[in-house]
Amino acid sequence: MQEFSELRINAYRESLDVLCSVEVTVLSKNVIEAIEERRSVRQFKQDPIPESVVNRIIDCGLKAPSAGNIQPWQFWVIWRPSLKAALAEAAFGQEFVGQAPIVMVVLAEPARSATRYGYRGSELYCIQDTAAAVQNMILAALAYGIGSCWVGAFDEKKVSKALNLSERFRPVALVPMGYPAELPARRPRSCRPLEETVITVQ
Ligand SMILES: Cc1cc2nc3c(=O)[nH]c(=O)nc-3n(C[C@H](O)[C@H](O)[C@H](O)COP(=O)(O)O)c2cc1C
Repeated sequence: MQEFSELRINAYRESLDVLCSVEVTVLSKNVIEAIEERRSVRQFKQDPIPESVVNRIIDCGLKAPSAGNIQPWQFWVIWRPSLKAALAEAAFGQEFVGQAPIVMVVLAEPARSATRYGYRGSELYCIQDTAAAVQNMILAALAYGIGSCWVGAFDEKKVSKALNLSERFRPVALVPMGYPAELPARRPRSCRPLEETVITVQ
């Protein structure tokens, strides 16, 4: 028989599921629409993002696929202005990084993937896993009306120093997020030609 506390936790989870599904129905876009609409946003309003929304975005990151379901990631949510400024500096002076209400820093933990997959785990899978998490969060943020930009140009050592990271972690992406001050124009996506990028074998 289930313990009382276990039952309560299950009931709580079920009510959360109902709440979440209501919220998602109201807020989320069709995933195809989100992919089509997404553009990098580099100008943000200063309105704070509600913590509940930040948590929902992170939750979408946590649900990304990962090799062996190892989930070799850590997400840091930086609200502190002095740290955001240090991250902007580490990103070779990309000022918009420091101007967003939050900067999500996504870290990979190569050693965690290496325990099962060796070199391939530490060099490839943990980066793929964290990249999948970044993209999930960017699309989730869009569904909540929040703009973001994947920032990969930064000095890893400077980011690690700013956050006082353990050597186990490798910063993979900075993702400044906020309500967009300006929506980048929708444009016909200038994708590389299909003949170059898609090979179909029947
Ligand atoms: C791995 C990666 C690194 C990136 N690094 C930066 C960056 O350092 N600074 C920046 O402004 N945009 C960066 N971007 C965003 C790209 O410039 C942007 O996605 C691309 O130009 C396409 O535009 P769109 O995102 O609006 O479709 C990066 C994107 C990726 C995927």
